Amino acid sequence: MSVAPSRDPSGRAVAGKASYILLHNTSEVVTPDPEGRTVLRYPRGAIAFRDGRVAEVGTGAELMRRHGEARPINANGRLVTPALVDCHTHMLFAGHRAVEFQRRLAGESYATIAAAGGGIRSTVRATLAEREDVLERTLANRLERWRANGCTTVEVKSGYALAPESEVRMLRIMRGAAQRVPGRLHRTALLLHALPETFQDRRADYVEHMCTRVLPEIQGLELATAVDCFCDPVAFSVEECRTLLVRAKELGLQVKLHADQTERSGGARLAAELGALSADHLEHSTEDDWRALAAADVVGVLLPAAALTLRQSLPEAAMLRRSGARVAIATDFNPGTAPAQSLIECAALASRLCGFTAEEALLAITWNAARALGAEHEVGHLNEGAHADAVVWECESFEELPYWMPAVRPDNVFLRGADLALPTLERRVWP
Ligand code: NIG
Ligand code: FE
Repeated sequence: MSVAPSRDPSGRAVAGKASYILLHNTSEVVTPDPEGRTVLRYPRGAIAFRDGRVAEVGTGAELMRRHGEARPINANGRLVTPALVDCHTHMLFAGHRAVEFQRRLAGESYATIAAAGGGIRSTVRATLAEREDVLERTLANRLERWRANGCTTVEVKSGYALAPESEVRMLRIMRGAAQRVPGRLHRTALLLHALPETFQDRRADYVEHMCTRVLPEIQGLELATAVDCFCDPVAFSVEECRTLLVRAKELGLQVKLHADQTERSGGARLAAELGALSADHLEHSTEDDWRALAAADVVGVLLPAAALTLRQSLPEAAMLRRSGARVAIATDFNPGTAPAQSLIECAALASRLCGFTAEEALLAITWNAARALGAEHEVGHLNEGAHADAVVWECESFEELPYWMPAVRPDNVFLRGADLALPTLERRVWP
């Protein structure tokens, strides 16, 4: 994970007294508890940030007394939560697939379009045709848009280059983009996404090449913290994914999976077997699959924009509660199945489609999402010691978070205790 240098709005490095802040006069501070099991609410609460970390969260009156030395920042009677965590995106790509979306609405399936050379491969062609500096700048602009939407921690997957050496280049572009803008970027190597033309009829060679050449390079150069696979009949089999992910784990990398998206093909069970950080999609997983995830402490990540775009249904909150699994929600931002640029909007959709409470929705885009990245000790909550990443929302009550559509917007987004200026949303993100 990389964190760009912390600067105040005038560009000075954040240090000294500026890094001791009391955010007060909130309507309420709402945060997951340290274990991410429930949501703690502090009416008229306050938070003290010191040296980029949360020093204390509690009632406003008490904190005002205890942190008299801190520089006060007035939340103007508004709601404060942890900054959001988007734990599943594919935001390094060029072009879009709006015409393909129309073809799908007219009845063609995702699998048919993919088999005819469209789908992921068409984004691969567009991405490889783009200049690398443009890809890097576009990704940086997108990360800024995410920050303006309240996300300071964003996972980005490679996967739109396919050729092994190009996939490694994509991870380097991510590192470059992260240095341009403030925020936390988790890089995931999505190494089995689609079979490139150069390996047609050589599937085993492709998997082998990824295992023996690409994984060691990624690990050696610290280009990614996690490895992902598209485990699906339209992509790679359970056996192929297992081969790659076992090797990744041997090298000390974390693993995650796109599982049971177009069919129930065993991806969720493989995630449980491997002790993955997360299993994502799960549109076709059963209650028993969710129980297996719960037993293995694997986060189940729902991607409501992808499910909606592919006109699939999402699981019911009641079933998810029975399973005991941790549930996260992410945008899955990609040009094929999820052109979705606001995580809070996705949570508002999932609340309606699945039946989540406001507490469940918040956990799904904060603590549980952080856990899906292995970062729950650092981000996704505002308990003592966590990174001082928080959002002041343009609303007063917690229940408004999943309520408004378009969703509520941040007034302020704190990153490491610094209230950095937000970019304008109008800035173009397309190359
Ligand atoms: O998460 N399922 C695989 N990957 C993406 C879609 C990629 C694409 O269609 O470009 C997803 O939905
Ligand atoms: Fe995805």
